[in-house]
Amino acid sequence: IGLAAGFDKDAVAVEWWDALGFGHCEVGTVTLRPQAGNPKPRLHRLAKDRALINRMGFNNAGAHALRVRLEGSWPHLPIGVNLGKNRDTPLQDAPKEYAALYRTLAPLGAYFVVNVSSPNTPGLRSLQEPEALREILQAIRAQKPRKPLLVKVAPDLEEAGLDAVLQIALDEGLDGIVATNTTVSRAGLSRDPGLEGGLSGKPLQPLADAALARLARGAAGRLALIGVGGVFDADDAWRKIALGAHLVQLYTGWVYGGPKTVARILNGLVERMDREGARSLDEVRGSAL
Ligand code: FNR
Repeated sequence: IGLAAGFDKDAVAVEWWDALGFGHCEVGTVTLRPQAGNPKPRLHRLAKDRALINRMGFNNAGAHALRVRLEGSWPHLPIGVNLGKNRDTPLQDAPKEYAALYRTLAPLGAYFVVNVSSPNTPGLRSLQEPEALREILQAIRAQKPRKPLLVKVAPDLEEAGLDAVLQIALDEGLDGIVATNTTVSRAGLSRDPGLEGGLSGKPLQPLADAALARLARGAAGRLALIGVGGVFDADDAWRKIALGAHLVQLYTGWVYGGPKTVARILNGLVERMDREGARSLDEVRGSAL
């Protein structure tokens, strides 16, 4: 169970996440240059719906600061680094920028994620389109050292869009896919609060699960899948694994559940394995497909 991107954007707490039960932590989204993000308020709790709507807009201290921070840290868990482009970088310059970001941080991450799925940077999600995505991935793949590379997708991609990303991931020798980021849909809310931004938490779960399942079927074991979106308890994590996830992440569930959330989920998974007679999660993975 990992901490999803966006919570510890600048890696300020990487030495402590393991004490809260996390097995990995994805820092970022980091951009090449520091940026302030959108004006506040930019994060809203929809407690009744166990959801959040955010339009943070990649507020972060930039790649150089992240590099310095990670060089001076001794984390006890694997650190993923989630990469994004600055708001004012033209879309056609994205491949160069992602490559420069990767170059700056490559020695310091256990894995890297190309974030082309945040709804809060104008035009970013258009980089999920085949040509644009292929160019970005090739630009990163030309850099050294070569680290595990994943792409993070939006839950709002149509099935054909998901299939296209999957095909590119396979063609370009990617290691995996993170499914999913927040949604621009407002389905599943008790009422639409009329806020701009990405929706996460419970209402995202069906969309994120559907995307994960589709990718897992298509990948047929050839990629590592990180399942994220609407995980609050052990049954949610179990479902992600049964839909093909190798790793699970959460953000909103952690916000509402507090510091014991991950321990509760891990204990719940073990109990359920006992109950169902599973000796390993490998027996569970993909069983719901
Ligand atoms: C996010 N998320 C996110 N994702 C990402 O790739 N880069 C980022 O910088 C952020 N920032 C961010 C900020 C806030 C306030 C939230 C709520 C979310 C998305 C996050 O990593 C995750 O994909 C979604 O939130 C879905 O998971 P949960 O929240 O339903 O567990």
